[in-house]
Amino acid sequence: MMLRDVSACNTYNYGDALYWDARYVQEGGSFDWYQRYSALHPFVRRYVPTTSKVLMVGCGNAVMSEDMVKDGYEEIVNVDISAVAIDMMKKKYEHVPQMKYLQMDVRDMSFFPDESFDAVIDKGTLDSLMCGTNAPICAAQMLGEVNRLLKNGGVYMLITYGDPTARMPHLSRSVFNWKIELYIIPRPGFQKHGDPPNVKSCLEPIPLTEKGLLPADYVMADPDSHFIYICKKIDESVELSSKSTDPLTADLL
Ligand SMILES: C[S@@+](CC[C@H](N)C(=O)[O-])C[C@H]1O[C@@H](n2cnc3c(N)ncnc32)[C@H](O)[C@@H]1O
Repeated sequence: MMLRDVSACNTYNYGDALYWDARYVQEGGSFDWYQRYSALHPFVRRYVPTTSKVLMVGCGNAVMSEDMVKDGYEEIVNVDISAVAIDMMKKKYEHVPQMKYLQMDVRDMSFFPDESFDAVIDKGTLDSLMCGTNAPICAAQMLGEVNRLLKNGGVYMLITYGDPTARMPHLSRSVFNWKIELYIIPRPGFQKHGDPPNVKSCLEPIPLTEKGLLPADYVMADPDSHFIYICKKIDESVELSSKSTDPLTADLL
């Protein structure tokens, strides 16, 4: 069952363009939700080559894309429903040719043709839709668009507060045919009993159960950790041709 995870939403308005416009008018400046690029860098570099054409969905006024360009990324298209945020960012980065900013609703990105991107990065945008009205439908529309825009073998990287019980029902739908890996990282600055977080263990994917849930004995160091879902769009043609050329398994297909 796909429910809105209202328990984690501060406001239903997160799904509303007017809410975001008002917020960006008031706040200006820049703000990165959840995590900065410095913490996400190992994951982004592992799954997204710097030559990738990247789509940043719901970019807001985050510095993430700027930091990625400084790290060598060559082409990042940023979209957001808030015209206020997009206008600000367009001005701020008019001299940075690696970044483009377009006002767009992630539920309808028909402006782009199918399979336009190698990677789609989402930090907090699916979360916003999940807080709005008609959350399951909005999530399905957005994820359908993400799937359409990804090239075969491309990756949707979702950075979220949503644990697998809240997010896997949306991500693991058979229509998408995504191979999903999960990482869990503590909030910035989190320290358990004064110890630094175990950085090495954060870099290992968490083995999910058959139902796509966390192992029963898994304990999160930080109960308010962030989750990184790596959803790889499987290239079915390659999968099938590699299977059919294997004489040992060809007759099993
Ligand atoms: C939680 S903020 C995250 C901003 C940024 N990604 C970050 O990491 O700081 C969610 C963003 O999603 C945008 N947003 C919400 N609904 C949207 C929609 N339907 N289409 C495009 N952007 C949307 C909001 O305007 C806001 O900038």
